[in-house]
Amino acid sequence: MRKVAFITGAGGFLGSESARSLARQGIAVAVCDINPDTVKATVDSIKAFGGEAFGMVFDVSESKEVDAAVEETVKRYGRLDIMIHMAGGSARIAGKDAKYLPLAEQEDYVIDRVLKVNLYGAFWATRAAARQMIKQGEGGKIINVSSTVGVNGLAWSSDYAASKGGIMSMTKALAKELGPHKININSVAPGVVCRDTVDTSTPEGRAYAYDTNLFGDKCTAEDIANLVDFLVSDKARFITGQTYICDGGRALSMKGTD
Ligand SMILES: NC(=O)c1ccc[n+]([C@@H]2O[C@H](COP(=O)([O-])OP(=O)(O)OC[C@H]3O[C@@H](n4cnc5c(N)ncnc54)[C@H](O)[C@@H]3O)[C@@H](O)[C@H]2O)c1
Repeated sequence: MRKVAFITGAGGFLGSESARSLARQGIAVAVCDINPDTVKATVDSIKAFGGEAFGMVFDVSESKEVDAAVEETVKRYGRLDIMIHMAGGSARIAGKDAKYLPLAEQEDYVIDRVLKVNLYGAFWATRAAARQMIKQGEGGKIINVSSTVGVNGLAWSSDYAASKGGIMSMTKALAKELGPHKININSVAPGVVCRDTVDTSTPEGRAYAYDTNLFGDKCTAEDIANLVDFLVSDKARFITGQTYICDGGRALSMKGTD
């Protein structure tokens, strides 16, 4: 039976990689993002290798839009087996004028947006997916993407840290609710994942890519997609309520993420 995945933030750096990785395994993917251009790019990249995908553009912080998108996925593909909430980010998702600032100086709209997209989005996407999976009665896999910032904290990003820490706590609580339905819920916490746009020939680029982990190597979007692949696979059938850090050991630093 063909499995079906619903991925928020699937137009982004990590989400698009996971969408392609699941599609390569024969999983049909609902590619969700607020950005129509990147939704199209991800869908096209999946179709280019013969994978199955369709795109939906909506705001994951709006629960009704998320419910409608899950309904549309089920209408299109007949079921839902996997939900991955990747949409999110720190202050910059609140708009081009939003800044990283100490809490004492931060504005309402930035804190509001970061919490709404990262944490409320996780609630809406998880709830909509869980309702459908419970109805199907065949279990399912849910992943919410957090961050090592949620583990260790980061100055000038307390909104982001709280949203990602919230994801880890909800993961534990919901494992207890969803376990009886054979639904696994886990969280993936990346550290510094190096984008292709980082120029690693400059000293700053090299430091960012190679000095932010214990391997002196670059963490790629594929490293995160590999972890997601495992957690949504049958091989992870007995794993639930956990947060898996993928950061090359960076979060072990006594100084935290800084
Ligand atoms: N890249 C990293 O180094 C890193 C590290 C730790 C955690 N993370 C987390 O991983 C996830 C993906 O990060 P990324 O690097 O791919 O970022 P990205 O900016 O490339 O992708 C995020 C995607 O979310 C979408 N999005 C933003 N607001 C939305 C909304 N309201 N509704 C629907 N979609 C929305 C954006 O359009 C974008 O395509 C995020 O949750 C981020 O916090 C990333």
